[in-house]
Amino acid sequence: MIPDSNGAAAHEAARRRTFAVISHPDAGKSTLTEALALHAHAITRAGAVHGKAGRRRLASDWMEMEKARGISVTSAVLQFAHRGCVLNLLDTPGHADFSEDTYRVLAAVDCAVMLIDAAKGLEEQTRKLFDVCRHRGIPVITFVNKWDRPGREALELLDEIEREFRLRPTPVTWPVGRAGCLRGLVDVRAPERMLRYTRTPGGVHEAAEEAIPAGRMAAAEGTDWERAVEELELLRAAGATHDHEAFMAGRTTPVFFGAAVSNIGVRLLLDAVVDLAPPPGPRELAGGGTRPLDAPFAGLVFKVQANMNRWHRDRIAFIRVCSGVFERGMAVTRAATGRPFATKYAHSVFGQDRSTVDIAYPGDVVGLVNAGALRVGDTLYADQAAVFPPMPTFAPEHFAVARPVDLSRSKQFRRGIAQLDEEGAVQVLVSDLRGDHAPVLAAVGLMQFEVVAARMAGEFAAPVRLETLPYRLARATDAAGAEVLGRSRIRGEALTRVRDKARLALFRDRWQANSFQREFPDARLDHLIAAHD
Ligand code: G4P
Repeated sequence: MIPDSNGAAAHEAARRRTFAVISHPDAGKSTLTEALALHAHAITRAGAVHGKAGRRRLASDWMEMEKARGISVTSAVLQFAHRGCVLNLLDTPGHADFSEDTYRVLAAVDCAVMLIDAAKGLEEQTRKLFDVCRHRGIPVITFVNKWDRPGREALELLDEIEREFRLRPTPVTWPVGRAGCLRGLVDVRAPERMLRYTRTPGGVHEAAEEAIPAGRMAAAEGTDWERAVEELELLRAAGATHDHEAFMAGRTTPVFFGAAVSNIGVRLLLDAVVDLAPPPGPRELAGGGTRPLDAPFAGLVFKVQANMNRWHRDRIAFIRVCSGVFERGMAVTRAATGRPFATKYAHSVFGQDRSTVDIAYPGDVVGLVNAGALRVGDTLYADQAAVFPPMPTFAPEHFAVARPVDLSRSKQFRRGIAQLDEEGAVQVLVSDLRGDHAPVLAAVGLMQFEVVAARMAGEFAAPVRLETLPYRLARATDAAGAEVLGRSRIRGEALTRVRDKARLALFRDRWQANSFQREFPDARLDHLIAAHD
């Protein structure tokens, strides 16, 4: 093994924290992201432009449709420093229909902050994202947001997390005062005082934080304080205290309370990311074993995105550095082909903002511009070969035939479809019967089709007509299974996925698939990874 020259990779990795915020839309992810950046002094004002529409223009969302729908399809990375650490905050798409993208982003982080709305508790998308974290073994820190507004009881929210996620909450901060009447926070590691906040108008700057000794609290806050003390006592007696090993094993989640919009409790959360979130570690390889941090450079492509900026029609591959030191211009190899790959155009990307990256360490994300050949799941390495496990493709549940509206734009149509396929924006299925002028698009969520239609018209000047097919279920099959399905009476269809040449058998529903299987027990029909389990 050729280690990096001076152990810089392992040293720098130890001060990296790479994480994502997972939440249901509207729980406050954008607000929290901004508040974290404010506390890390990466920005000087938060909420400078109020409201979703305004903020979206500033932050990571760039497509017209994203702005209109308040979703973020693209993933970008915000890097900031805090207490000697470098924090990489990866943006996840805001909608369940992009669960494949979210899964890929979560493949690139070491920790997640699960954001919960104090009034709503666990919501549908929180559940799905948490499942992904559990599946990937990502430790989760919980932030209960919007404590400045009426909401549920703190203990009740903890119960819900424990019951639904089989995840033991271990509060690190505790609110004094019910949701909507927040008096302050107690840091359970220093319970002899309460932190009182004075928010700035509009939450533009950090809220001033003042520590009030417990002796004064009883007089000043009366029943709110007594109640908090009792609740803390209860939690202590129940053993709900942070245990690092249990947290790393995904059995517990440290919990924080606050209000992102007023910057309350955000500093404590930011400190927790530094103190509790794990730094990058050795990464599992496809063939077994791990890639040590100080092995030569190896990185994982977790996202490919074209035309992020309509003025630069380029394609960016986002790579998480997994080992070694990445230096711009270095010669790397693409594991899938064994061919060399140029790294001259390395950037950090957040929304429309780009800056050149000259050097990056494990945990960092590099955007390689014009990385036309790269695909999601690819491994790049220097000197010593590495292949990281492939990214799973989810079972599509919606199918539509795409045709160019204007036949004279067939070339642009084909180019656009191929591009979207390579990015993983949608799955493209073909068959001899249908031909490549009318491919079948397959999606996990319907909104993916909207993105396809918007991008085909906007970026490729090849508007498409999408004709929905009646299938809702896909199973993996093989050539023999496809042939049997083709000649059976059952109105399913066998198609080949362009991306990985997998053969998929499409059915209207589970019953139809089952009756096919009963009739042809030898035909291969395997389950695909379901996004909605
Ligand atoms: P998202 O990215 O998770 O979708 O959520 P986002 O940050 O856009 O926040 C959704 C709404 O919740 C916003 O209100 C935001 O101001 C509000 N919010 C976020 N954090 C808090 C909090 O701690 N307390 C309170 N009370 N509200 C919070 P909006 O009406 O969509 O926009 P705005 O005009 O209020 O900014």
